Amino acid sequence: MAAPSKASAAPAAGATPRGAASPPDPTAAITVVDLHKSYPGRGRGARPVPALAGIGFTVPAGTVFGLLGPNGAGKSTTVKILSTLSRADSGTASIAGYDVRRDPGLVRRSIGLVTQKSGTDLDATGRENLWLQGRLYGLGGPRLTRRVDELLDRFDLGAAADRLARTYSGGMLRRLDVAVGLVHRPSVLFLDEPTTGLDPQARSAMWREIADLTADGLTILLTTHYLEEADRLAARVAIVEGGRVVVEGSPDTLRSELRGDSVNLELAAHPEGDRTHEGAEQAARVRELLAAVPGVLDVAVEGRQVRSRVSGGAATLPAVIAALDGAGLAVASATIARPSLDDVYLRHVGRRMRPEARSGDPDAAANPPDTPPTPDTPRTLGTAGQPGTTGQPGTAGEHGSGTGQGDVR
Ligand SMILES: Nc1ncnc2c1ncn2[C@@H]1O[C@H](COP(=O)(O)OP(=O)(O)OP(=O)(O)O)[C@@H](O)[C@H]1O
Ligand SMILES: [Mg+2]
Repeated sequence: MAAPSKASAAPAAGATPRGAASPPDPTAAITVVDLHKSYPGRGRGARPVPALAGIGFTVPAGTVFGLLGPNGAGKSTTVKILSTLSRADSGTASIAGYDVRRDPGLVRRSIGLVTQKSGTDLDATGRENLWLQGRLYGLGGPRLTRRVDELLDRFDLGAAADRLARTYSGGMLRRLDVAVGLVHRPSVLFLDEPTTGLDPQARSAMWREIADLTADGLTILLTTHYLEEADRLAARVAIVEGGRVVVEGSPDTLRSELRGDSVNLELAAHPEGDRTHEGAEQAARVRELLAAVPGVLDVAVEGRQVRSRVSGGAATLPAVIAALDGAGLAVASATIARPSLDDVYLRHVGRRMRPEARSGDPDAAANPPDTPPTPDTPRTLGTAGQPGTTGQPGTAGEHGSGTGQGDVR
């Protein structure tokens, strides 16, 4: 095995991949540069499936970094490459100063991995799952016993510690997954969709756990569909689309870069179903009407919901309502708010993310690509909820568990 590439004097500095465009950042726990990856297509003559198209970002040590993107954006593929479960076709990445390709063993020692699909053994107890993970990392004896007890306690699993994991609730299982990822005290933790499918109460419990983890100096790479999750937990977020970063920054900075206000309307009625011909026609009509109103910057329509960004909320709202009213489209309710991460997403990706629909509604999981945004020109945006062109809604994360050809077993 090649000598570790970690430089002793300046740990992370030695990690900068050869050929990196920018100089090394000595405070980075994760450095990703220009990763590309395609999966082989299924069947003879099938075209390769592109997954990553130059993704790159840097995560400072001790922070939470959010990779935010819709189904098929490439989030899990990135996590798999960073955790040495898969190899990139090109580009470089390092974790805690170790290059993922040259020093995979050292990378594995430095990381904890919570995969999108739970890796818990359902036929073992919570305590046994933790113990087994510790043994895999060469731990044992009273030290491991103490560590297991500490984690059971910390993740509120003490009372259920000796029950089979298959009797756990979704939230308990996910907490156990995180605890298992922490047994060997990694410095970097990957959390791939830690709250997808959890009910709101379990989700906010998990958010509290994740927020507490950084107090210990842990670096966390969090992938999520949930804008609110990224907003609450991440010091920085990168919005990923089509295997590359579309925009990156702190949630506050990204929001503050959007001028104007967010105006959200609910139409009184709309033709049956979002996806019918009439629904699409009405959405197109609404977009056309609002694009013509002075001060309207972006518009997205989903069924009866109309979300727009306008240069001055209070001044523009009456004209917006009048334009719709004049076309026979009554407005049932209207709100004005400061731009949210949802608006940031809309601005840079060209459509809304619709996290709520994703976990349970495969049809709503991906939207067709729209016209690329152009800076500060009024844009009309597609209706969400049409059949998507990326990923395999509902299963995209499941086939991503290291089974594709070209993956490192
Ligand atoms: N093992 C695989 N074999 C073939 N194609 C794959 C495999 N894993 C992922 N893909 C494809 O690569 C692309 C990126 O998938 P990836 O799972 O990384 O996206 P994701 O952002 O994690 O999506 P999700 O939010 O649904 O989990 C998608 O088009 C997906 O269908
Ligand atoms: Mg995924």
